[in-house]
Amino acid sequence: MKVLITGGTGFIGSHTVVSLQEQGFEVVIVDNLSNSDSAVLNRIAKITGKESYFYCEDICNRDALKNIFSEHQDIVAVIHFAAFKAVGESVEQPLKYYHNNITGLVSLLEEMKSARIPNIIFSSSATVYGQPENLPATEDSPVLPATSPYGNTKQINEQILRDFLLVNQDLKGISLRYFNPIGAHPGGLIGELPIGTPNNLMPFITQTAIGKHAELKVFGNDYNTPDGTAIRDYIHVVDLAEAHVVAMNALLNNSLKENYSVFNLGTGNGFSVLEVIQSFEKTTGVKLPYRIVERRPGDVEQIYASTKLANEVLGWKAKYSLDDMTLSAWNWEKRLSEQHFSYDDKV
Ligand code: NAD
Ligand code: WQD
Repeated sequence: MKVLITGGTGFIGSHTVVSLQEQGFEVVIVDNLSNSDSAVLNRIAKITGKESYFYCEDICNRDALKNIFSEHQDIVAVIHFAAFKAVGESVEQPLKYYHNNITGLVSLLEEMKSARIPNIIFSSSATVYGQPENLPATEDSPVLPATSPYGNTKQINEQILRDFLLVNQDLKGISLRYFNPIGAHPGGLIGELPIGTPNNLMPFITQTAIGKHAELKVFGNDYNTPDGTAIRDYIHVVDLAEAHVVAMNALLNNSLKENYSVFNLGTGNGFSVLEVIQSFEKTTGVKLPYRIVERRPGDVEQIYASTKLANEVLGWKAKYSLDDMTLSAWNWEKRLSEQHFSYDDKV
């Protein structure tokens, strides 16, 4: 069966392409390479021994989508990763985010509808919960006003999908709310490729350990948590990728009660910033220079997922530990440094 992956050369998309190909799906990727490298395609093929169809196109371009759907009339589903994701940049350039993330989804849904593609999985985010009053966050926890245009695009996208599927009952969709995806494929061939200085914790840790930054700044140790640093639910990107295959099969097998569902994807365990650093030092044997500084504006104190729904309805559960995540992230960083911080096998 053939699946279209938007954003398939990106961090989570590339791992999902691997999982899909390993499960026997054929994959068509559309990605404009605005935040990824075409060399990823060779890397995926090295891992799975299978080629993907690739289109370097912007998903806001409806003609391009039309052509892809007409060339691949056997596509059974779309997994939609393509979006901009830098929270800080979205505050500086809101229209860039509203244009890409909102127009992208609308254009995709319009073309899916005319090509009669019945299934879509959308990349949402735990950011929609803000700071939940009660933990763990369940899918019914209130969606709080977004604190960034990026976060707002995820809320609006979920609403667009819900509204669209309400009046198109023959189509089906799932929003997957990712918690904090980190780590890399264990073989070290694919991983996260942050452009510029990373804002996220894990790539900043690995880049500091490899010598690209003098130290990691730990944002705040005066939170109401056991060690005072903020808590998140980190999830291995390979677990996340596999969850997409499981969700896809649930759509294809018609096993969900409603034609629109929402699932959290996390491990259910919260770890503090200091615990992530400790895991990194333990698994890699590398001492990480760090310093406690002020809290980062906009950060929530703690959040972790209820995984009950994904577990009971989809039968999915994360397998990898925090140590697996920090070690695989480090192996990936070392691979990148051997290649002078970029891919060396562009296609
Ligand atoms: P990424 O930037 O690595 O991948 C996104 C891919 O989409 C990139 O390859 C980029 O080139 C492509 N893209 C962007 N706009 C496009 C467009 N208009 N047309 C075609 N291609 C386009 O990001 P990621 O970390 O893999 O995230 C994937 C999805 O998951 C995004 O929607 C993101 O918002 C969401 N998400 C990510 C995280 C996270 O922490 N990484 C957390 C929650 C949700
Ligand atoms: C994790 C923890 C920081 C960097 C963001 C987005 C969210 C989602 C995932 C897409 C926090 C601390 C970080 C550093 C630090 N993305 N930290 N020093 O903020 O939970 O979520 O990425 O949807 O929308 O907001 O992830 O990795 O930035 O931070 O101390 O240099 O690490 O304060 O407690 P966050 P993160």
